[in-house]
Amino acid sequence: MSPFLKLYFRFALLLLLVTLVFGVLAAWAFVMPELFSRYFPFYQLRPFHVSAAIFWIITGASAGILYYKREVLSHHPLKTKYKQVFIILWILSILAIFFCYSFRIFGGREYWEFPSVLSIPLLICWLAFMASYFLPVRSPIHPIPQYVWMWSTGIFFFLLTFIEQNLWNIPWFRESYVRELTIQWKANGAMVGAWNQMIYGTSLYIMVKISGDESMAHSRKSYMFYFIGFANLMLNWGHHIYNVPSAGWVRNVSYIVSMTEWVVFISIMRDFRKRVDEYKKALNFVSYRFVVASEFWVMANLLLALLMSIPAVNRYTHGTHITVAHAMGTTIGINTMILLGSLGYILNVDKYTGGVRNLINKGYNIGQYSLVVFWVALIVAGLLKGYRTAVLDIPDFQTIMQPVNSILTVAAVAGIGVAIGFGLIVFSYFKVLNDR
Ligand code: HEM
Repeated sequence: MSPFLKLYFRFALLLLLVTLVFGVLAAWAFVMPELFSRYFPFYQLRPFHVSAAIFWIITGASAGILYYKREVLSHHPLKTKYKQVFIILWILSILAIFFCYSFRIFGGREYWEFPSVLSIPLLICWLAFMASYFLPVRSPIHPIPQYVWMWSTGIFFFLLTFIEQNLWNIPWFRESYVRELTIQWKANGAMVGAWNQMIYGTSLYIMVKISGDESMAHSRKSYMFYFIGFANLMLNWGHHIYNVPSAGWVRNVSYIVSMTEWVVFISIMRDFRKRVDEYKKALNFVSYRFVVASEFWVMANLLLALLMSIPAVNRYTHGTHITVAHAMGTTIGINTMILLGSLGYILNVDKYTGGVRNLINKGYNIGQYSLVVFWVALIVAGLLKGYRTAVLDIPDFQTIMQPVNSILTVAAVAGIGVAIGFGLIVFSYFKVLNDR
């Protein structure tokens, strides 16, 4: 592995650590505002946490793609300059963003709350990443495996959605509040579809490698998965614009597409499990476990999404912590699991026995169980708040939140478990990286 790529992997893991630490702090700042408001108010901790989470996902996905593409696509060695520019500028831009957050210099929009001028280096970075991915390819393999289609589509659409996400900088888009809000949420929704393409492609790639069965990336089901994922990328924004006046069918179509994508994904993962015998499982046990965990979380989130889409339930749960459970259930349960499986595969952590393996096992167990408690507590908090607001019709926010806050305290305690569990895994991966 080149020193640049090593640096990039370290940075990805560091971002995950920052996400965990600031997530825990934000949760406690929410349940105990009087203790935190002076030095670490929630409004400052939240952007730190959420931006770090988004950058962890994008950095983790692109790190894997940069590594795997060398194995899959023929490449031109001279073009590595683009990769180096991307890595250095990406790291510096993100550090500049955190620097701004530290001094409470905000700007931008939801999830990207830094001064918008910093979007310019991020855009240049992505163009450099695209150059390093697409330009060196002389003769793509035939037939092109689905994971290559997925990576390529995700990378290209990330560029489009990032530009769309920044359109509000042009005054015309800000002239109408509804116009700006619609485009903003549409872009955020489609961007999730773009990074999912990169991450699901990565998941398919490691499934192929662990099972040793390349036909998984050429099967009819994998084509279907790609096209539904692509449709989801185009349409899933429909259920992210709930705060904008829009026709109900738009939301329903996008819900159906998103859920179908998950159903096909579950089916592919089941096929994968059938193809992996005990020997292959043992060779890549860490990555295998993360893939299986992501399957569990796809199912759990599918159930939650079904629940949220029932209008009678949505009436109560809308805008409560159920939405937060959905966001973190997917970004931790699905995206982070796949990315940790992918990094584990690249670092070949299964080669290690003793200390490192024990730490990974411990971290995995603590992380999974805590995540279940964390996720369920957020859902219960959401249901309770919805019930007290819409059914009991309590007008005063403080009274509504009294019992809800006790449940959020349970979530905050479980969040510490999530942070410890994943923290141990990050620590082990760092150790392995230092050994290489
Ligand atoms: C890999 C780890 C994590 C990822 C990827 C992640 C991701 C996210 C995302 C995407 C959001 C935005 C949700 C929304 O807008 O609805 C969020 C919010 C939040 N997360 Fe996390 N998270 C992680 C771990 C944690 C942990 C360990 C905690 C600790 C309890 C935590 C606490 C919070 C809090 C308090 C919020 C703000 C919720 C609100 O605005 O009401 N997160 N996280």
